[in-house]
Amino acid sequence: MLELRNITKTFGNVIANDDVSIKIEPGTIHAIVGENGAGKSTVMRIAYGFYNADSGEILIDGSAVNIKSPQDAIRLGIGMVHQHFMLVDTMTVAENIILGAETGGAANLDLDKANVEIARLSDELKLGVNPKAYIEDLSVGAQQRVELLKALYRNAQLLILDEPTAVLTPQEVEEFFGILRRMREQGKTVVIITHKLEEVLAISDNVTVMRDGKVVGNVKTSETSAKDLARMIVGRDVLLRVEKTDANPSGNVLSVQNLSVVGKHGKALDDVSFDVKAGEIVGIAGVEGNGQTELIEAIAGLVSAGNLSGKIYFEGTNITNFSARKRKELGIAHIPEDRHRRGLLLDFNLAENSMLGVHYRAPISSASGLLNDSAINKRIGDIIENFDVRPANAELPARALSGGNQQKLIIGREFELNPKLLLVSQPTRGVDIGAIEFIHRKLIGLRDAGTAVLLVSAELEEVTALADRLLVVKQGKIVGEVDPKTTSPEEIGLMMTGGN
Ligand SMILES: Nc1ncnc2c1ncn2[C@@H]1O[C@H](COP(=O)(O)OP(=O)(O)O)[C@@H](O)[C@H]1O
Ligand SMILES: [Mg+2]
Repeated sequence: MLELRNITKTFGNVIANDDVSIKIEPGTIHAIVGENGAGKSTVMRIAYGFYNADSGEILIDGSAVNIKSPQDAIRLGIGMVHQHFMLVDTMTVAENIILGAETGGAANLDLDKANVEIARLSDELKLGVNPKAYIEDLSVGAQQRVELLKALYRNAQLLILDEPTAVLTPQEVEEFFGILRRMREQGKTVVIITHKLEEVLAISDNVTVMRDGKVVGNVKTSETSAKDLARMIVGRDVLLRVEKTDANPSGNVLSVQNLSVVGKHGKALDDVSFDVKAGEIVGIAGVEGNGQTELIEAIAGLVSAGNLSGKIYFEGTNITNFSARKRKELGIAHIPEDRHRRGLLLDFNLAENSMLGVHYRAPISSASGLLNDSAINKRIGDIIENFDVRPANAELPARALSGGNQQKLIIGREFELNPKLLLVSQPTRGVDIGAIEFIHRKLIGLRDAGTAVLLVSAELEEVTALADRLLVVKQGKIVGEVDPKTTSPEEIGLMMTGGN
């Protein structure tokens, strides 16, 4: 279907693709894996005409083609869904879809016809998208299906999906994979870029592994394993399991008593009580949206007093009415689930991001309010070194970093506070496997140094591997506490979903 031959592409002095050759067979799902910066997006953007290669060839059905722009690619039946969606919030699904497709201008937009055709495509693949819905009213998962429809509406036979699952919950991933399989049944070809080995094994027919701009492996999925893929991706053996000794917990650091929170859609947290001790990781398992976000935000001081009842004690002090800043000063660090909304200022550079939350006090600011450049440089230098943030350039805007490196920056910043209590949500979402191993080790290290850690993760595997004790939540209530070492994922899954 599509063949990339000897593609090389440089950006300044970075070799993003170094003599890359990939063959995509028609009617297959082909995964491209590799760490952040391996060159996956670049090579697929070349196939889509978004970038032009410095050298190399693109063939479709065996003949060389000239793809100089996305228009060329679309004409040849290639569609691409980018990591960041390109939809206009205030317009409907159908309006968004025909917006880019009709090159003749607004005069001949036939919205009624488009509504019918989009509804038909949506039904055919069971996408559940209403062409007349407004984008701003749709969940992230539904917006992604709109992006798929956009490509299909333009007759794409080959769809390139750049990390489509990074923004999805585990349930949405399952549904999404169902859609990809239906597309394959219809004879379409899918290229999926992902970090996640389980996803590669679950969905793909063939896999290409990239590292440092080169292809290091092309294998049939049925003939490989998570272990082999991990080794190819990282270039060394990777621990896919978390290694840790038993916890050595001491006194209570956090004590939550009868906490209830009213969220956007009514009662989000319902009379929750638990403790977290120094030197232990308490995990919260649950289907996303069952109160986890509100719980962490309540403890971090991000829920207004009017929406909350119950008490929160930190080292014996009632902090229920303390501001978020006061809590941070006491030693409560927070790694939020949404790094773009809460974690980083994307247009600020790494140095500036490294002092968010501590910018007003020593050693970053003097009593007179002047920023201390050498303290800032030391802080960001330490974070870059200890947390392996790449590229190692404090002057870059946070936006220029991959998701995994943005996450390492946030984690580094919060660890720099030497917290007594760490609140951490989805620590490895969208992060590549080398970095996952690294982040897991850092969390265990922090626990071993005596910090109390409260961990929320939608990945059951992650939360059971890291936690010393596991609380299961459902509809805002704690429905049980289990020992993650002796409880099977099936049992925990049943508690999460309410089966008996
Ligand atoms: N537009 C660009 N300008 C400069 N460098 C880029 C650009 N796009 C990608 N790169 C660099 O090329 C390399 C490969 O990036 P990319 O293809 O995005 O990797 P991946 O998708 O595997 O994470 C990285 O070092 C990245 O920083
Ligand atoms: Mg990429």
